[in-house]
Amino acid sequence: MDHNKQHETSHKPIKRNEMTRRQFLSYTLGGATAFMAGGAIIPMLRFAVDPLLQKKAETAFVKAIEEKDVTKEPKSIDFKVHQVDGWYESDPKLQAFVAKDDSGKIFALSPVCKHLGCTISWSGDEAPNLYHCPCHGARYTKDGKNLKVAPKPLDEYQVKVENGWVYLGPLESNTRV
Ligand code: FES
Repeated sequence: MDHNKQHETSHKPIKRNEMTRRQFLSYTLGGATAFMAGGAIIPMLRFAVDPLLQKKAETAFVKAIEEKDVTKEPKSIDFKVHQVDGWYESDPKLQAFVAKDDSGKIFALSPVCKHLGCTISWSGDEAPNLYHCPCHGARYTKDGKNLKVAPKPLDEYQVKVENGWVYLGPLESNTRV
């Protein structure tokens, strides 16, 4: 081999598969940045969606009135329920008409008129022994059956009686008529 040829061969750049310093730095910096960004963003995401992922707690029954105070005559009572809706918690005041039927079973009706949502009243000169609505004159029986104007019976609260107290649960469609 002549001298020139030998010289060329010895200075040919060596091809290596190793990572260059530049690549190493960009991978390391990229990884560290992604790690730090994840550390900041994941808690924020979790905070944002957490209430949506939580299992909705069973709607609790609320202690409403002593069993001994319930008669066959519907009685208007106010009670509060604790509501959690996503990020928003509230304790709205609700109203119910609680009464006993002829067999002594306690039931509770919603006072919200099924026509356009006004609040109904029980009995009086205008409609003796009926629920009546002051807005457009709807009438309902003691069981909540719609007699005129309103298209549907009054909604009914789920009721539980325990240790001398009446507890009210969620509203449902009237089961009595
Ligand atoms: S809202 Fe009750 S009759 Fe119209």
